Amino acid sequence: MGRITGQLTMRLLITADLHYNHPRSHPLAVDLIAQMNQAGGDVLLVVGDTASADGDDLEKCLSLFRFNGPKLFVAGNHELWTRRDDSDRIFTEELPKRIGQLGWHWLQDQPFVAGNVAIVGSIGWYDYSFAQSSLEIPRRFYAAKVSPGAADRLDQHQHLLDNRDDVSARAAGIVARWNDGQFVKLHQTDEEFLARLLDQLSGQLQSLSRFPRQIIAAVHHLPFAQLLPPPHSVQWDFAKAYLGSDQIGRLLVQFPNVTHVYCGHSHYPAEAAIGHLQAINVGSGYRAKKFLTLDVT
Ligand SMILES: [Fe+2]
Ligand SMILES: [Fe+2]
Repeated sequence: MGRITGQLTMRLLITADLHYNHPRSHPLAVDLIAQMNQAGGDVLLVVGDTASADGDDLEKCLSLFRFNGPKLFVAGNHELWTRRDDSDRIFTEELPKRIGQLGWHWLQDQPFVAGNVAIVGSIGWYDYSFAQSSLEIPRRFYAAKVSPGAADRLDQHQHLLDNRDDVSARAAGIVARWNDGQFVKLHQTDEEFLARLLDQLSGQLQSLSRFPRQIIAAVHHLPFAQLLPPPHSVQWDFAKAYLGSDQIGRLLVQFPNVTHVYCGHSHYPAEAAIGHLQAINVGSGYRAKKFLTLDVT
């Protein structure tokens, strides 16, 4: 803790989307961690997409941090990417163990509390509530994580076009995929997974809100549509379905003590004041990385 003008403050260092195992992103991640090691601070918060689950990239990446204070970890969708068949077990059993062994705090299951400040975390997820209706894509394609144009080219998704009556010419011309469809194996619907995560986060927020303390939330996926990137291409507009869920934001705004929510995932820096809280996307991506600081008194 630092002492600034007579008040006890806690400086948080926050980043996301290090993508350590991505070739273009790797050197930028190493460089950003070196900058963060120089920056000082009291608590470190990493908000998802550090590395995928297979192999030991996660360990290699987190071991580069030199930080004396508490180190808080939130998983992103990329931590659930695996060549194995069990992303849910990786998420609920394997990752908490691995993160703990590295001396990091697995925020998903246990909020971090220091004095009057609490930090809660969740991977968050998506329910296609951010899907762009202008694309005219029926929901079953979002659930399969392929657009109609892509389904037409992929044997395993052809059945989605058995009845084409609801597929407009515009939708049929869109060729895009969301790669969680290939690499995340949850064996439940995205809506079911998100509902579970929201229950967990809601329980944590309720137990913390009994105390008059400030709560900072770290959620990998976007909690508010206001943080979505601007229109770019149909492929990117298709991807918006997977950027987050307005259910996350609706939960957070119910708790007056939540002052800030930090997210990542879209790789697009954005900030919005929503009700009483400040929503911030760190905005780290494959081509540029950054970290933010927050001083809490
Ligand atoms: Fe990411
Ligand atoms: Fe992500």
